[in-house]
Amino acid sequence: MNELRRDLENLQAQAIAQIQSSADATQLEQTRVQFLGRKGRLTTILRQLPTLAAEDRPTIGALANQVKEAIEERVVARRAAFESVPGDEILAKDQIDVTLPGRRPGLGRLHPITQIIRRICGVFVEMGFAVMEGPEVEWDYYNFEALNIPEEHPARDMWDTFWIDPATSQAGKPMLLRTHTSPMQIRIMEQTRPPVRVIVPGKCYRYEAVDASHESQFDQVEGLAVDEQITFADLKGTLHTFARRLFGKDRKVRFRCDYFPFVEPGVDMSIDCFLCKGGGCRLCKETGWLEILGAGMVHPGVLARVGYDPARYSGFAFGLGPARVAMLKYGIEDIRFFHGNDLRFLRQFP
Ligand code: PHE
Repeated sequence: MNELRRDLENLQAQAIAQIQSSADATQLEQTRVQFLGRKGRLTTILRQLPTLAAEDRPTIGALANQVKEAIEERVVARRAAFESVPGDEILAKDQIDVTLPGRRPGLGRLHPITQIIRRICGVFVEMGFAVMEGPEVEWDYYNFEALNIPEEHPARDMWDTFWIDPATSQAGKPMLLRTHTSPMQIRIMEQTRPPVRVIVPGKCYRYEAVDASHESQFDQVEGLAVDEQITFADLKGTLHTFARRLFGKDRKVRFRCDYFPFVEPGVDMSIDCFLCKGGGCRLCKETGWLEILGAGMVHPGVLARVGYDPARYSGFAFGLGPARVAMLKYGIEDIRFFHGNDLRFLRQFP
């Protein structure tokens, strides 16, 4: 009897060890059959039961049952472990620690040029100007002709132009990418009667070699005011106010003669260098002045062309480049930073 007891105990120990070390469900099943199957090792031991004394049989029979149950239990547990492994891995991978601080979502921001355009427009809106926009693909007529720049006129050389394929333009009406926002002067005057006070931001294009201060696509902000009795003093007062609002209240401005075919007289405006206060430095190239825009009194020929009586109405116009304004204001040395998509640059303008 003691021999059988030992056999059963050994069998249990061996079975459990083998179950635990089985590598997969197939191996596990083989082990189960080996120990508990119809011709398995447990059955072999139980066959010896009749050789025992009658009073010993219940004890050994009960032990055999316990051994069988113990082994079956382990088999079931091990099988469950095999089946649940992939799920457990997924769960382990998907675990989140709800006590960790949250991740900050990446907030976007306005491009520095957009910010400057909005500030520029804001200053003029406060002075009673309305913001308007117009097409970037433009007729030759609005970009040149109506602005006193006829075909073959040498002034066209001031604006290196991207022309639209004549095949897609209408016959005899050449199209181009506007080289400045000034064509909007004409479009607006054609559609409204004085008083006119508009500010027009927008993209412009020039067939130009790209360098530290020129890009072939850039922004301009155009301004136009037409009414009775508008004089050069209005131009100066308006633009001086603008310069002080954007560059500081102590700003001085300087006007010098310049040539644009659609204004008479034409000027360029500079502000005294806010870095050196006019003394001369690297920013102002030792001149003490920073040129920031072109302007002038609307040419009588332009007024007449849109049906405004030049004897009754007069006006001023100006055009400026927000990129240049931003470069001066923030000391940016290369215009190509603006569209280089480098976050280290862009993040400096929150
Ligand atoms: N359109 C001119 C340019 O691009 C600037 C300008 C606008 C000058 C309005 C005078 C008046 O160079």
